[in-house]
Amino acid sequence: MKRRTFLDVFLAASGAALAAFVAYPIARYLVPPKAPEAATRRVVAAKQDELAPGGFKIFPFGGEPGILIRGRNGEYRALSAVCTHLGCTVQLRPDGQSIWCACHNGLYDLEGRNVSGPPPRPLESYVVHVIGGDVVVEKAKGA
Ligand code: FES
Repeated sequence: MKRRTFLDVFLAASGAALAAFVAYPIARYLVPPKAPEAATRRVVAAKQDELAPGGFKIFPFGGEPGILIRGRNGEYRALSAVCTHLGCTVQLRPDGQSIWCACHNGLYDLEGRNVSGPPPRPLESYVVHVIGGDVVVEKAKGA
């Protein structure tokens, strides 16, 4: 092999290696690996005495937020905190009468039904159990 040919092949191989070295992390960034769907169906959302009546808490449920609401009579209710419009996290309004999404002023009632604004569907409702001082939230069967 002539020196000139060797240098051409060497430079071409080096260029290809450099291009791959730069392109691979960019491609991995742009196309992230598929994350397995969170298999979480049940979590401890709070301690039983953690929330005062009328209070609420955002808790992690798998990879998404949930909202635990303690009613004025002490009862618990849990819903997905992911707004059904564009996915912002909802919160309980200070008057404790409705659930509000600040992104586009979406409003849900305490049952999670969409009552005004852009949300197209109700919030997903969860089942709540109080077990040994823990408030346990679980997805309804079939959800
Ligand atoms: S994301 Fe909640 S109202 Fe738009």
